[in-house]
Amino acid sequence: MCVDFFNQICRRWDETSKPDADKITFLLEKLSWNVSTRILDVGTGTGVLLPFIRQFSPQSYIQAIDIAAGMIEIAQKKYAGWGKVDWYVSDIEQPTERGKFDQIILYSVFPHLTDKTGTVSYLINHCLTDEGELLIAHAQSRKFLNHLHKHKDKRVCNDSLIAVEKQCAIFEREGLEIIDADESDQYYYIVLGKSYANSTTVMPAPPNCTCSSWK
Ligand SMILES: C[S@@+](CC[C@H](N)C(=O)[O-])C[C@H]1O[C@@H](n2cnc3c(N)ncnc32)[C@H](O)[C@@H]1O
Repeated sequence: MCVDFFNQICRRWDETSKPDADKITFLLEKLSWNVSTRILDVGTGTGVLLPFIRQFSPQSYIQAIDIAAGMIEIAQKKYAGWGKVDWYVSDIEQPTERGKFDQIILYSVFPHLTDKTGTVSYLINHCLTDEGELLIAHAQSRKFLNHLHKHKDKRVCNDSLIAVEKQCAIFEREGLEIIDADESDQYYYIVLGKSYANSTTVMPAPPNCTCSSWK
């Protein structure tokens, strides 16, 4: 299980995993920050993303969750005194009442999920506001990450990404809306939203529609 692996390496995480500010900024720019007030940082680790989130949205409330207690413990110490942040040791794959969020961010965590599509689908349908967005993001290429995991440790050796195009097709078959997606030798990202079919918002009538029974 990856939780044992991350609890084991948590004390070395900040020394060995230096965030690339330009790439993180590039990835977070894929979200529409004008609406964000409540943000869910999934797999927060030692809280690497928090200063970047606050740059984009200084007043936001952040719920930071991680399955590894060791990671959360370090993050809590690093950001002691920060307001409007709640920390939870929690498995995102367990359906749980977490509230609604304008942005849900899975930064460097998606390959570690067992039921990737089911988990993302649950988060979008139960934890995202109607106008909200969910971002899956990596500041490395799929090839690099798959190779890294394969040779790192047996507890994460099967944790992999598939081509963005294929992953998007899987999400679309689940009825999820792809807002933006791309991958390169530098990054991998998918931005998803709630399709109107899954939303509680009434779909707007097409332009020039004269039909009075439009629903
Ligand atoms: C590669 S680390 C990335 C941490 C952080 N986002 C960063 O970029 O520094 C992946 C994190 O996801 C967490 N994680 C893995 N599976 C999880 C799950 N099912 N629920 C919550 N967190 C999970 C791990 O414990 C770990 O802290």
